[in-house]
Amino acid sequence: MRQPIIAGNWKMFKTRAETSAFFDALIPQIQDVEHCDIVIAPPFISLATAAEEVDGTRVAISAQNLHWEENGAYTGEVSVRMLLDAGCKYAIIGHSERRQYFGDTDEWVNRKTRAALKGGLQAIVCVGETLAERDAGRASEVVRRQVAEGMAQLTEPDLSHIIVAYEPVWAIGTGRTATPEVAAGMHAEIRKIIAEIQSKAVADTIRILYGGSVKPDNISALMKKEDIDGALVGGASLDPASFAAIIKYI
Ligand code: 13P
Repeated sequence: MRQPIIAGNWKMFKTRAETSAFFDALIPQIQDVEHCDIVIAPPFISLATAAEEVDGTRVAISAQNLHWEENGAYTGEVSVRMLLDAGCKYAIIGHSERRQYFGDTDEWVNRKTRAALKGGLQAIVCVGETLAERDAGRASEVVRRQVAEGMAQLTEPDLSHIIVAYEPVWAIGTGRTATPEVAAGMHAEIRKIIAEIQSKAVADTIRILYGGSVKPDNISALMKKEDIDGALVGGASLDPASFAAIIKYI
């Protein structure tokens, strides 16, 4: 039985005051929720504020990125130790925006993932093809490479701290959600790839989230699919009412 996860990725939105206001509005709306894990990923600067706001609730806080070194002359970067100190339990790694705008490679994704796991964070590793790659019939090949290289050199116990997020780039922020069938098809493929590179037992237990224009009105259909174990929500996670509605998809 895989416990579903609904995660919100705020990207570069919200100040600390806006973060506090969000949780003041969200927490009362999700008091009775037990069917899923709930995660919010604010920008670095608001992580500690967010962690204080969710203390004693079932909401966990995630970083959106990290550096693999513990300390050092890496201007502008943040280490796993600092994220733990700020109250993080999760870290998003390899988001397509990091790959596209900031040069994150599969090798970096792997280094970051290994650093996160070593430090005790749960890693939400993002994969997904661009529209050009899908149109060229290369979606499966691209996702296979991202999964295999991003998760290279990991042991079976490591994999129990990994969550995969399938986010087709053409569905992010475009309002063009993958249909539940397309998403579920790729999730099944990802599970197959993990079975090949690790084991069927790991593939059966690893949680795979879908991301890309998830909204209150499409979450239920996505979550009905057997291989979809949750969602990584961008825009619709910024509003407490819409994020609460997504959390309460059942
Ligand atoms: P949207 O939900 O805004 O499409 O963003 C998805 C995403 O990139 C989550 O990480």
